[in-house]
Formats: sequence, C-alpha cells, structure tokens
Amino acid sequence: MDSLRRILFVCSGNICRSPLAEAVLRHKLAQRGLEERFALDSAGTVSDHLGQQSDPRMRRTAAAHGVTVDHRARRVVVADFDAFDLIIGMDDWHISTLESMKDGRDVEVRKMREFDPEVTEDADVWTAPDVPDPWYGGMRGFEEVFEMIDRSCEVLVRQLEEQL
Ligand code: 4NP
Repeated sequence: MDSLRRILFVCSGNICRSPLAEAVLRHKLAQRGLEERFALDSAGTVSDHLGQQSDPRMRRTAAAHGVTVDHRARRVVVADFDAFDLIIGMDDWHISTLESMKDGRDVEVRKMREFDPEVTEDADVWTAPDVPDPWYGGMRGFEEVFEMIDRSCEVLVRQLEEQL
C-alpha cells in the first residue's frame, strides 16, 4: 500500500465538468508541490463519449486560465469504490448514482459545490447546488462552470493540505 490520497471526480459524459475538476485540482496541487501525494482521475455516469478527449470548449476555457485538460472519457465502475478514498460528483443525479453504487463501502462521496465558498447555507452532499451541465449552452456557461469548480477546488485543496 502507498500513502497516496486517491480522488475521483464524476460527471455525466466525463468530457466537461469532471475532467475540468481533475485538471484544476491537479494544477492547484502542483502549485503547492503536492501533486505526488495524490492520485486524481475522473469518470462519467454515461457511456456516450467513451475514449473521447474532453470537450474543446472546456479545454479552451481552462487553457485561458492556464489549466491543461488532458483526459479520455471513461465510465465510473464499481471497482472505483474500492480504488478511491474520495469521490466527488457534480449534480444530484451523480450523487444518487454514486450512493447506489457505493453499496456500503467506506469511500467518501461528496458534491463539488459543498466546497464552494459562494454557497452560503450549510450545504451537505444532498443540499449543495449543482455544477450545471454546460454541454448545450454557450461559452458563457463554460466560463461559469470553470469559476464554480475553480473556487470549490481552492477550498478543497486547502482542506486536503490540512489533512496531510
Ligand atoms: P459533462 O457534460 O457531464 O460535464 O461531461 C455532458 C456531456 C455530454 C453529455 C452530458 C453531459 N451527453 O449526454 O452526451
């Protein structure tokens, strides 16, 4: 066993929100010299985009903020619940899917915007707002998703650092 902390981000297609969250957290860990203490990955609840690179609109938005998104879409599998310590979903549907797949295992399931400092009420995994699906919208939606994920990952990385 190694001492890596293993974190999986989950969205629907695994081409927009979760690969972005993976890339943003990796970027923030690297800025702190902590990337070797963590293993990050992302996966989706649907199989429509398996093996595809992330959405070019998401990659372009991330690149404009200095973040490189480089991931091939895969589906979340039951084995992930043994392989990861922490699994973070983006919306209510992901949380329902993850909770039913978890089936009593020890892994922690959280929702991305539980960590969002702009969510003022005391949000838990069931009450935190969604990171909305940007797929059908314009570029403004991709930017908003970036901002939500970026500020949520900023709080997350600070919590992870304190736990080391
Ligand atoms: P994501 O966005 O879950 O953030 O990767 C989506 C991309 C594709 C689809 C749904 C959501 N789709 O149904 O094809």
